[in-house]
This record gives sequence, C-alpha cells and structure tokens, in this order.
Amino acid sequence: MADMLVLGIESSCDETGLALYDTGRGLLAHAVHSQVDLHEAYGGVVPELASRDHIRRIVPLLRKVLAEAGTGLETIDAIAYTAGPGLAGALLVGAGFAESLALALKVPALPVHHLEGHLLSPLLSADPPRFPFVALLVSGGHTQLMRVAGVGQYALLGETLDDAAGEAFDKTAKLLGLGYPGGPQLARLAETGQAGRFSLPRPMLHSGDLNFSFSGLKTAVLMQARKRTPGDSGKADLCAEFQAAIVEVLSAKALAALKATGLKQLVVAGGVGANQALRAALDTGTQAAGARVSYPELELCTDNGAMIAFAGAQKL
Ligand code: KG4
Ligand code: ZN
Repeated sequence: MADMLVLGIESSCDETGLALYDTGRGLLAHAVHSQVDLHEAYGGVVPELASRDHIRRIVPLLRKVLAEAGTGLETIDAIAYTAGPGLAGALLVGAGFAESLALALKVPALPVHHLEGHLLSPLLSADPPRFPFVALLVSGGHTQLMRVAGVGQYALLGETLDDAAGEAFDKTAKLLGLGYPGGPQLARLAETGQAGRFSLPRPMLHSGDLNFSFSGLKTAVLMQARKRTPGDSGKADLCAEFQAAIVEVLSAKALAALKATGLKQLVVAGGVGANQALRAALDTGTQAAGARVSYPELELCTDNGAMIAFAGAQKL
C-alpha cells in the first residue's frame, strides 16, 4: 500500500493539538496549544472558554504543521479527530472542523477514541514496544490496566473504582492550595519533600485484583493537613508521601498485571506517565521482573494531535 498522510486533530479538553503522520516516514510535524493560561484564574477548565479557544487556534495550528512538514492541504489522505470522551463543546470544534475539511478535500474522516490515542502513543517512540503488551493508562480521567494484543484488541484487566490517578493529583493539589494544573505542580513540590514524614494509606494495594481506588487519598491528605497545618516544608513532605502512595500502588498493580498475563512488556500512557517518580519505580520494578517498560516521548504523554493521527493511520 502506498504511504498515507494523516492529519490528526485533538480538542477534547484544554489542549488544541494538530499533527501530520505519514505511514511511511513517521511523524512529520506536531503542534500543541495549551490553554493553561486561559483557565488558570478559575482553578480548572471552563468548558465554554475551552471551546471558543479551540476555534481560535485550530487553523493557525494547521498552517503551522503544514509549514513544518513542508507540504500543503492537497497531500492529506485522511483526517483523524478525537471523537470522545471529552468536553462536548470542545470535541464538537474538532469534529466539525475535521468532517468539513475531509468533505472539502474528498478524503475520509476518522473518528478516534481519545484513550486509544493515548494507548498507542508509545508506538510513536524511537524504540517502539511490540504486541502483545500490558498497558497502564493513567490520564486525568482514566486509570486502567489493559492487555493489548494488537491495534483494536484491548482487554480490560482492571481500573479505578472512583477517581483517576491524574484526578487525584489534581484534586489534592487544589486542596493544598497549589496552582492549576495541579498534577505537575504537586509532583514538582514532591521532589523537594520527603515521603514517610506523613503517613498515607496505599489504597487497594493488597486487594488481590487489578483495580484501583484513589478518592480516599485526597481525604486522607485533608485529614493530615487539618491535624497539623503544614508549613512550606511540611507541604512538600505531604506531597512526597502522596506521590509515593500513588506510585507504589500503580507500579505494584502494573507488575501484578505482567505476572497475571505472563507478558514481559509494559507500556505506560497518559498524562501521569510523565511523572518521574512513577517512571523510576516502573524502571526498577520491570527490570527486577525481567520485563521491559516503554513510555511515550514526554511531550506525547499529555494530550496531543500526534497520537490521534497515529491511531487514525492504524485504522486506515
Ligand atoms: O492524558 P492527559 O493529558 O489528559 C487526559 O486525557 O486526562 O492527562 C492529564 C493528567 C492531569 O490530571 C495532570 O495533572 C496529570 O495528567 N499529570 C501529571 C503529571 N503531568 C501531568 N500527574 C503527575 N505528575 C506529572 N508530572
Ligand atoms: Zn488525554
């Protein structure tokens, strides 16, 4: 089959991401506009503002990736876009734009599930993992362990019963008075603190299954903070302990999933996959188990158009 050029469009939340992926030459260009500055004052994503900003950004970003790839609209063979899950208005901007452009260019429009984009994103790395593998999907909305036999062949092994790992990071950051977006800020502060000075639970560590529960952790953090109002260094210690708790549970269950499936390849995807403490724990754990772990490039951990273009290309 001749090489195909796929335009990818991601607009499910607060990042507008566009990318051009060529089935022969790989990722040619990708660009992301983050709306962090826009939502910062509100302490969270304001859906209406997000939708309006996607409209403003999408055409300039398209021009940018075309210029970066040194090509024009006429060379695009298909347009992949995030169909869901996400904010309805934000998704509509991407879907409406993609479907219209596909109609005008007379090429297929390919709706992509956002999580499938994340899941396949490690395959874009220089040394991609091979099927079958266990995927640990840790984003703002989902925490799942999956057995992935190939593109489109996903078996759920376990998932969170309540908050997602990223959500727990964000909510805990908020109650500690850290800025938005909370996850990366909490992680940064955790690096300066010491785990073990506060004591937090390791939810479901010994549950015997591959499920998670993170909603209790933020409450435990709140109780600790109430008992003894932490100063700046105390806050850092609390963050370090919180991060240690999440990392311990995530890595223990990911390793348990490898054991349960008999597989030796782990793949990590989603925003929390950018967390350095999690990466360190998984590096050590997989090495000890004689297994391998793959991550997406750091910039492809959080939402982006490249993973959508790639997932779309796999569907073609
Ligand atoms: O995959 P993603 O960009 O968006 C969703 O599809 O949800 O993930 C965003 C999540 C947020 O909850 C954010 O706080 C978290 O990933 N995150 C992190 C880090 N970077 C992003 N959590 C912990 N440590 C980080 N370094
Ligand atoms: Zn995402």
